[in-house]
Amino acid sequence: MTHDAVEAPELRAAHVIVVANEKGGSGKSTMSIHLSVALLKAGFRVATVDLDTRQRTLTRFFENRASWAKTAPWKVELPRHFAPDRGESGSAAENESTEFATFAEAIGEVEHDYEFVVIDTPASDSYLMRLAHSLADTLISPMNDSFIDMDVLSRVHHDRSQRGLISQYAEIVIEARRKRRLVDNGLIDWVLVRNRIATLQTNNARQVENALRKLAVELQFRVAEGLHDRVIFRELFPLGLTALDAIEDANHHLTPSQQSARREIATLVGDLQLPTRAEGGDYLESRHIWFEAISNYYRELTAKKGD
Ligand SMILES: Nc1ncnc2c1ncn2[C@@H]1O[C@H](COP(=O)(O)OP(=O)(O)OP(=O)(O)O)[C@@H](O)[C@H]1O
Ligand SMILES: [Mg+2]
Repeated sequence: MTHDAVEAPELRAAHVIVVANEKGGSGKSTMSIHLSVALLKAGFRVATVDLDTRQRTLTRFFENRASWAKTAPWKVELPRHFAPDRGESGSAAENESTEFATFAEAIGEVEHDYEFVVIDTPASDSYLMRLAHSLADTLISPMNDSFIDMDVLSRVHHDRSQRGLISQYAEIVIEARRKRRLVDNGLIDWVLVRNRIATLQTNNARQVENALRKLAVELQFRVAEGLHDRVIFRELFPLGLTALDAIEDANHHLTPSQQSARREIATLVGDLQLPTRAEGGDYLESRHIWFEAISNYYRELTAKKGD
């Protein structure tokens, strides 16, 4: 995937990558960080949106990175970053309306000039989180090799070979896919990415993997290998750096773990099968019509309240 392969700006529509999973601490922000930096380093214009209005992990990472960029002797790539605020008024409709407006404005500002928009989301179900899902071209859900994480996707039956009810999170994705089809007949490519994989493949990890593969057919997602549990994926956060940055020692050596981390990120980006040519005008037009319809809905709602 090279930058040259991308079409002229006027024909371009940003490819929206949403990183989400209702399971807290599954690695959403870690993956958003590494993916954004990998795409920036591949030469793409990347915008990032932090919808986790409470924790603001992605925002803090890029703030750290921006400070580092001021003094670093080498190039430190930065995305165009947005951190929309949460609506704080007493009325839910008013909050949704404000949140929608800031979110739509952020997307509108970058959709023509950026190739990718990476959106990090909170673990909790929220209006903005659902809105982001229905805009996703690629939806990435990081997941640990654990039945507890799998339970967020599908209630795990005591007999592990039998699946239980579809979970609330899977319902959110199904609903987002339905909305997306209405907007522009688009498809959401849902990719489950394994995270914090243990170096030693345990019996439990194998069972989780098998159960996931079965569920993948039913819920229509793909499974990607993802990232191992490595200190390098967390220790550079305060510096705003990643394993992909110039972190070689004085002798220009990378540790084996750093080399493996780089390979894993590269494989992950490859597995995502992101488009080298984004879709064009029709897609943007449908999105605008959809945005306009929602804006009108809120305008009418506010007007009614004023009657
Ligand atoms: N592959 C990994 N190797 C080592 N540590 C990791 C890895 N992935 C995530 N972590 C660590 O696990 C913790 C949770 O990760 P992260 O904050 O990315 O999850 P999250 O899904 O964004 O959490 P939240 O739901 O709270 O937003 C962090 O301390 C992070 O540094
Ligand atoms: Mg997070």
